[in-house]
Amino acid sequence: MSRIFSGIQPSGSLHIGNYLGAVKNWVELQHKYESFFCIVDYHAITLPYKPDDLRARVADMALGLLAAGLDPAKCTIFVQSMVPEHTELAWIFNTLTPLGELERQTQFKEKASREESVPAGILNYPVLQAADILLYRAELVPVGEDQLQHLELSREIARKWNARFGASGFFPEPKGLLTPARRIMGLDGQAKMSKSLGNTVDLLEDPKSVWEKLKPAVTDPKRVRRTDPGTPEVCNIYHLHKAFSPAATVEHVAVQCRSAGWGCLDCKKVLHESMEKELVPIRARAKEIAAHPAKMKKDLAAGAEHAGSIASGTMTEVKKKMGLT
Ligand code: TYM
Repeated sequence: MSRIFSGIQPSGSLHIGNYLGAVKNWVELQHKYESFFCIVDYHAITLPYKPDDLRARVADMALGLLAAGLDPAKCTIFVQSMVPEHTELAWIFNTLTPLGELERQTQFKEKASREESVPAGILNYPVLQAADILLYRAELVPVGEDQLQHLELSREIARKWNARFGASGFFPEPKGLLTPARRIMGLDGQAKMSKSLGNTVDLLEDPKSVWEKLKPAVTDPKRVRRTDPGTPEVCNIYHLHKAFSPAATVEHVAVQCRSAGWGCLDCKKVLHESMEKELVPIRARAKEIAAHPAKMKKDLAAGAEHAGSIASGTMTEVKKKMGLT
């Protein structure tokens, strides 16, 4: 069985962007592959934060992932800092990674442009990401589109390390696995849905609050009046229908939009209903899981132990091949 690895930052609750772009796919893939899913807390400390907040965000993310359907009996789910080999391998990869490659990363350029003083951790972030994946010698990495550039760098690092240490094929070159929802736009319709942009709908948000966010959400900008026919392909709400509604509804939505049969608010009401169908069971599971925090802690500890056993095996071989102790 091929091995897959993916990670998610502990940004608090999951939003429907990372759910549709990645986590929903993880839930399916855990049945088909030997799967490792990691809450990457070391990736989340590159900018100032409050320790208590981070602890709470890690717990909230674990709750969200389990509620979304990750099953600790089927996959390994763990917190990155509980497996110290991640940073150990990252240091090794830092010694092989050209500075120019790191400076070229789009996410680095975006993040660095917002900071007055740029911590080296922001630059080296994708090296740690390569270590995350390669520590488990994972072949496939289910992610959203925004992670593809980092993944390309992981492949280059794998190639370089293999060549340098005469270990052809030791690290596989990991490939991305995308879903049709590879890039979910925020409700502002301007940029990808992202916690830092404040344009998200959270997976565990209550239905009233979801509706309050959907009501003003941007649609086809050319549809100014209720009677104007719309173009579904340019409408973010239509794309969310494709992710949440059954195929027949999606088709109906397109017809109603093009003929101005429905107004945008009608269309949003139907989307809200489709979302509720998917989100109600997830919220119910979250409630159940939150009632047993000790069980969740135990599952994460067991996940870290299993991940750690694979990670230490990889490091033993890596060090041997590199002439380290
Ligand atoms: P993160 O935490 O930003 O996002 C987690 C996953 O969700 C996907 N995603 C989206 N997909 C579609 N539309 C969106 N609006 C959207 N927002 C987020 C992301 O593509 C990602 O798959 N650097 C990574 C975490 C990471 C990682 C790894 C991933 C660390 N190590 C190793 C894979 C393998 C990140 O910040 O993801």
